Amino acid sequence: MERIIFPENFLWGAATAAYQIEGAYNEDGKGENIWDRFSHIPGNVWNNENGDVACDHYHRYEEDIKLLKELGVDTYRFSISWARIFPEGKGTPNQRGIGFYKRLCEKLLENGIMPAVTLYHWDLPQKLQDKGGWANRETVEHFEQYARYVFKELGDKVPVWITHNEPWVVSFTGHWEGRHAPGIRDFSTALQVSHHLLLSHGKAVKAYREMGFGGKIGITLNMNPVYAASYRLEDMEAAKRFNAFHNRWFADPIFKGEYPEELIKWYEGKVKIPDIMPDDLKTISQPIDFLGINNYFSSFIKYDAKSWPLEALSVDTGKDKTEMGWEINPEGIYDLLMYLHKEYKGIKILITENGAAFNDIVNREGKVEDDNRLDYLYRHLKQVHRAISDGVNVEGYYVWSLMDNFEWARGYSKRFGLIYVDYKTQRRILKKSALWYKDVIKNNGF
Ligand code: BGC
Repeated sequence: MERIIFPENFLWGAATAAYQIEGAYNEDGKGENIWDRFSHIPGNVWNNENGDVACDHYHRYEEDIKLLKELGVDTYRFSISWARIFPEGKGTPNQRGIGFYKRLCEKLLENGIMPAVTLYHWDLPQKLQDKGGWANRETVEHFEQYARYVFKELGDKVPVWITHNEPWVVSFTGHWEGRHAPGIRDFSTALQVSHHLLLSHGKAVKAYREMGFGGKIGITLNMNPVYAASYRLEDMEAAKRFNAFHNRWFADPIFKGEYPEELIKWYEGKVKIPDIMPDDLKTISQPIDFLGINNYFSSFIKYDAKSWPLEALSVDTGKDKTEMGWEINPEGIYDLLMYLHKEYKGIKILITENGAAFNDIVNREGKVEDDNRLDYLYRHLKQVHRAISDGVNVEGYYVWSLMDNFEWARGYSKRFGLIYVDYKTQRRILKKSALWYKDVIKNNGF
């Protein structure tokens, strides 16, 4: 079989997020965040589950770092809970909150694992939501202050920073579909939120540079390659529109300093165009060191007059699906990487999430034989390697996720981990995919 070897300094990692794994939701002075509030309201999350305990990582982080060490990862991506540090979103920092992340970073470094830290993975302090949350421009300032404080405290320990995780999901799943916290259902609000998220990203990048740190900073976007479902003109136009909505709405302001013109035109008369102040796009387009991309699936789009406001609809193409109902299309990640390389002129890319949920079982030998996940990772990594061979600057890859965890509105019903978590006992079991990934890391390929 042909050998697939990655570039020498390629970074191998695994990723998590604070609310999904930490638990300890009201300990050591942590404030309430929008996911605490949202998940405590019956009907919002599958089986009315919540992140109160999750993987109890807050108390078990040392054990979890041992597992990271066993996997042999170069880097671990995790996020910081804003409300642990500023229980009310602003004001006086909570020493016990920042203390946890200091210990976590120190332990990682002691074990030779590079921390890659996301500042915002969806858990806004509830007190800021009470004042309008991301729809209120003041939240941008609070985010900047929070970022400055975290940079000051952890800047010497963390070489890689990610300002936001998936602002598309925050905007549209949280403020249009209402399936995620804060559960708002208004397209115009979602658009305004998207602008404030981007602006807060730009302000944090600027602050990081001003403070003189030498590490790298970027943002993570959830991106899908977009294909037209047919060669009919209306389907091809709908696919273009969907690409502008899903991918370019966030990447163009950052890399080109402008929102996609044709989408703004399309929105006119349908939804309210966000309020944008004169220097905003300049701030948003601060140079960044890498683009983080999360990719799970591809979008096949057809024209649909009833799909307001885009008149574009995702269709099923009959491919195999993961437990999330997401079609598996490994070539998609290759097409996406090639597209980004071309569209944004050779930017540096970190794949900050890729992975799959499957219905894992612990077998009679106490093992989890997740060949389906292993196969998913194998096929996607092969395509990532192909893109690198074709000139795309991919610097690293993080599996989502290090361990099974709270899958947002789906609660604990979906397992994405390399490591199985028995939520009753908090026992962790390395799945077959984890053992395979360990070898991939060791051999820098397969
Ligand atoms: C998010 C993760 C999430 C994963 C699987 C991404 O959208 O960043 O928090 O668990 O996808 O749904």
